[in-house]
Amino acid sequence: MQKIIDKLEERRQSAMLGGGKKRISSQHDKGKLTARERVELLVDIDSFEEYDMFKEHRSIDFGMEKNKIAGDGVVIGSGTVNGRLIFVYSQDFTVFGGSLSETHAEKICKIMDMAMKNGAPVIGINDSGGARIQEGVSALAGYAEVFQANILASGVIPQISLIMGPCAGGAVYSPAITDFIFMVKDSSYMFVTGPDVVKTVTNEVVTQEELGGANTHTVKSGVADNAYNNDIEAIKQTRRLIDFMPLNNKEKPPKRKVFDQHNREEKSLDNLIPINHNHPYDMHELIRKTVDEGDFFEIQPSFAKNIIIGFARIEGSAVGIVANQPMVLAGCLDNDASRKAARFVRYCDCFNIPIITFVDVPGFLPGTAQEYGGVIKHGAKLLFAYGEATVPKITVITRKAYGGAYDVMASKHLRGDLNFAWPTAEIAVMGAEGAVKIIFRDEAKHPEKIAKKTKEYSDKFANPFVAARRGYIDDVIMPHATRRRLSSGLRMLKNKELKNPWKKHDNIPL
Ligand code: HXC
Repeated sequence: MQKIIDKLEERRQSAMLGGGKKRISSQHDKGKLTARERVELLVDIDSFEEYDMFKEHRSIDFGMEKNKIAGDGVVIGSGTVNGRLIFVYSQDFTVFGGSLSETHAEKICKIMDMAMKNGAPVIGINDSGGARIQEGVSALAGYAEVFQANILASGVIPQISLIMGPCAGGAVYSPAITDFIFMVKDSSYMFVTGPDVVKTVTNEVVTQEELGGANTHTVKSGVADNAYNNDIEAIKQTRRLIDFMPLNNKEKPPKRKVFDQHNREEKSLDNLIPINHNHPYDMHELIRKTVDEGDFFEIQPSFAKNIIIGFARIEGSAVGIVANQPMVLAGCLDNDASRKAARFVRYCDCFNIPIITFVDVPGFLPGTAQEYGGVIKHGAKLLFAYGEATVPKITVITRKAYGGAYDVMASKHLRGDLNFAWPTAEIAVMGAEGAVKIIFRDEAKHPEKIAKKTKEYSDKFANPFVAARRGYIDDVIMPHATRRRLSSGLRMLKNKELKNPWKKHDNIPL
């Protein structure tokens, strides 16, 4: 018996080494952890249960029948993060470059299946040379099966992708379907076609990093959500992100003990809005001073900075925050900001996370670049996302809420549950200067008349009371009381029930 046990242990030890010590060293030399080291860091100590450790590929071409490595380049299993169940797959670059074979794909699909049955998130750690070249179409089929599993899991369980090495070709589409993508600076990249193909087809010379590095995708394309300096930091932040999420779409987000009073007043917020209504201020200050212990997990902090999105807690329960940022483009909505916020609003709605919206928006960014870029469709995405969301929605207008952007930003008319305004709010079709220029175009040569009319318009509309008189604003609140009002609002909305009409699915303007 001891012999059999020793044999098992031997097999295990050999499987644990993946592609061998030399390749593990090479992985470390690149500043990367191995697949198993990553999993160990992700889950709670001693919680990882590995499955399919001995699974091998069945390929017989190009000498592959003599080249089999237990596990076939991906580590799969379950574990806990702060005591809560998660499932994980982690591609092992030391085994055939982490490339995806038929059996490798089967392992990923198996873990996705388990996650769906047990209602818990899947974290996919990507570090792969793409489709296993020796396998051809079987590998392509494997990818498509993974995509299909990702699609069916979307909106049922949270899916997070960590890109910690190459992720190229069609392989990018699995992470792209998932809810969040984190990348590691300098050691990860994502692109559909690599620099060599780009050079051949378009004559463009570009490095891997420029084409698809963490900076490119978190600043320029918005494909990835956050970028971290190394594997350890990325994994630590993933654990933090998981703490905000329910395990599946039937659960409420987890509640955590907090030591921040629900009715804490922040007197400094009374002076947040500058006297000159065209001067910027940092919306992060309002967010941090309002949420529990100032803890805000910002998503996409470097992309479309004119809108801020992220997770926080109020009275220990997770909330999604969406906020215009007056420091960037005066807080205007544009194509990127609309797409960014729309996807986030939909995520929150899928997973029962209430949405808090802080509004200071002068409108949609004008110009040909925006119109040619499809601002009509992109803006509609955000409008649609808010309008279809059935989770509790609380809106606070701090200053400007002009034009269509007023409607879009979780207004009462899109089933906002509680719509508050600070006394500094200006809810109107547009700013007084612009409005007067249009209504009194014939008086343009009389600056004194224009100034008088501007004051008149401003006095009439640059306040929250016109909207409050109509019930579009539920209350005009003191800035320092914002936290208290949000806390009691969320408590009141705890058991909110709202259903959309039956449909197969909607047709959001993609
Ligand atoms: C089989 C692969 C592989 C692959 C890498 N390897 N990619 N084996 N299939 N796709 C193997 C290498 O042969 C090598 O084996 C080991 O992994 C490490 O690779 P290196 O090239 O030594 O590593 P590095 O220099 O870091 O370069 C990494 C790389 C490069 C940039 C990913 O390996 C590469 O360009 N690979 C091919 C990428 C590719 O074209 N994939 C197909 C994309 S198309 P040894 O034994 O020497 O250690 C695709 C379609 C998906 O994926 C479609 C889905 C719809």
